[in-house]
Amino acid sequence: MKYNFDERINRLGTYCTQWDYIEDRFGEKDLLPFSISDTDFLCPPELLQAMESRMQHGIFGYTRWNHSEFKGAIRHWFNKRFDCPIEEDWIVYSPTVIYSISKLIELLTEEGDHIVTQTPAYDAFYKLIQDNNRTLSCNALVNHDGVYTIDFEDLEAKLSHPKAKILLLCSPQNPTGRVWTKEELDRIISLCNKHDVYIISDEIHMDIVHGSNPHIPITKAATDVSKVCICTSASKTFNTPGLSGSYNIIPDEALREEFLITLKNRDGISCASVFGTLSTITAYEHCNQWVDELNAYVKENLKLVQTFLEENVPAARLVMPESTYLAWIDVSKLPYSSDELQHALVHHAKVAIMPGETYGEDAKGYIRMNVGCPREKVEEGLRRFKMGIEYLQTSTTQI
Ligand SMILES: Cc1ncc(COP(=O)(O)O)c(C=O)c1O
Repeated sequence: MKYNFDERINRLGTYCTQWDYIEDRFGEKDLLPFSISDTDFLCPPELLQAMESRMQHGIFGYTRWNHSEFKGAIRHWFNKRFDCPIEEDWIVYSPTVIYSISKLIELLTEEGDHIVTQTPAYDAFYKLIQDNNRTLSCNALVNHDGVYTIDFEDLEAKLSHPKAKILLLCSPQNPTGRVWTKEELDRIISLCNKHDVYIISDEIHMDIVHGSNPHIPITKAATDVSKVCICTSASKTFNTPGLSGSYNIIPDEALREEFLITLKNRDGISCASVFGTLSTITAYEHCNQWVDELNAYVKENLKLVQTFLEENVPAARLVMPESTYLAWIDVSKLPYSSDELQHALVHHAKVAIMPGETYGEDAKGYIRMNVGCPREKVEEGLRRFKMGIEYLQTSTTQI
């Protein structure tokens, strides 16, 4: 390994959402956090060097993204990692992925229209659909003993509703970690084409893939690229969401133009983040190996969780995800409610792990543990998890 992912770095005192503001989510301070999905890893050294030399320059004026260095780096990455050619003109900047999805929903639908999405889902999906006054149409994933698949009959029923206008696909899927296969994508695309439903594919987790299925960008799978777009970013992979900056791949020219007008004129976002732009260019041009090593490291962390649970808390189970640094752990066999479990973890074991219901009512028997961190922290988190379970066992026995 060229890079060191074991190094533990104190993030406290950096206005860090995961560590400094843990109380907002869990109601208590000083917890070991495995919550929001950013990582505790340093950015790749190549990226830090590029930013340091830009920093030395000392002037951070209005900055453009619309040039061949930014767009060329994205094309290069899609070619290299996914064997997926994209046209330079299809690329547009956006401050964040969720901003893009929200604006595309605004542009493509009317109030009351249906947005179909697979559940359990990333919690921001629920909020952005509801707060845009659109109707959430859930295509619940089928859980076969921890392996999630799509209920295509139900998907077709949801897509055929006259008000269904968009499928908001999460590819790879947060929180289940599924990487959709070519066959699955083909069926999704053909159903959407049949019912004239546009696909917004959130591919922010596209680089963190460690199972046997390769990630396939929706523009590569689509037969008609004008009916799909990708909203994504380098920020999840390289741990740079605080720098701001993401991008969309929108092959349909009219929609792309509308998005740009909304971005620049209506919402007044005419300047890109200088560090967001530079970090994307540098990461995509120079940090290929770092991502391979990150994936190998994350996979080992996930295996550690799996083995630890088998040996110490066998009623809790992790089916190895194909993607993401998020361990989606089945705790439904534990004899405790979600509230009891959270209470023990937060107040007695001092560990913050996301309750499954954050991602949908039907995910109550799950917890989501972010293992994008040095192994020692994962070990400490697992020890605390076990401590929480032991506390519950002894307190139940006493009753
Ligand atoms: C599926 C998915 N989309 C989007 C985001 C957030 O992206 P952004 O901060 O660029 O809006 C996340 C972050 O966890 C995510 O998991």
